[in-house]
Amino acid sequence: MTLPVADYAIIGGTGVYDPALLEHAREEEVTTRYGAVNCTVGEYQGKRIAFLPRHGKRHHTPPHQVNYKANIQALADMGVKHIFATAAVGSMRLALAPGALVAVDQFLDFTRGRPLTFFEDGEPVTHVDMTDPYCPRLRRLLVATAARAGITVANGGTYVCTEGPRFESPAEIRMFAQLGGDVVGMTSIPETVLAKERGLCYSTVAMVTNYCAGMSGAALSHQEVLDEMAKNVHVLRKLFFDAIAALPPDESGCACRTAAGGSL
Ligand code: HPA
Repeated sequence: MTLPVADYAIIGGTGVYDPALLEHAREEEVTTRYGAVNCTVGEYQGKRIAFLPRHGKRHHTPPHQVNYKANIQALADMGVKHIFATAAVGSMRLALAPGALVAVDQFLDFTRGRPLTFFEDGEPVTHVDMTDPYCPRLRRLLVATAARAGITVANGGTYVCTEGPRFESPAEIRMFAQLGGDVVGMTSIPETVLAKERGLCYSTVAMVTNYCAGMSGAALSHQEVLDEMAKNVHVLRKLFFDAIAALPPDESGCACRTAAGGSL
């Protein structure tokens, strides 16, 4: 089996299952030592792009059971250097209403029991740098690309990652907000960490689908998240494809490449 090749990847989160704009798209299965990954590979304006729905095409894998290691390893093996990830999130800030887009720049990790690292089981002990958990270069590019299209994307924000799959209690939300969190989701960890460990540029644009538990007075539902995502998914998808098209070809100097200490 020959490995498909791609330079860029879009990881589609909740509500983003369709690669839509990809030309010459073909389905591929990539086998890694962590498991097999299904993705779609194609082109947009001559750039080779892999599209990977994080929860599977029919949203069958819950956030705490996503095979994050296989996903990131598959993209790295295909030659991907830049990952653009979507994420459905709840908002803890009144100013970030449903429909708002946030190019996050920090995280608070409240997961437990997920795989933490590639660097175990005989791999050299490695402490990856997390000063910039999300690639600042890609974040700036996304914000600028959005501005050109008249779309507002908040430049920075702190993503609180919970274990899920349950939503949070209002008391947890009050605590996260006091700690400096802006939005809450269930998937950015360990995805961003593993991407950094493999020396990849990784960015997330979070889409606010709801105010967090206890803020609106109403109970939360997964359907509400899906409905809000469905309204705006085309905006997010177009933004990612436009950002990839605008990315200059040689990015070998990015600090993301050596965040794991050059052991790559
Ligand atoms: N909490 C956690 N994850 C989410 C939420 C939320 O309120 N909305 C969408 N994903």
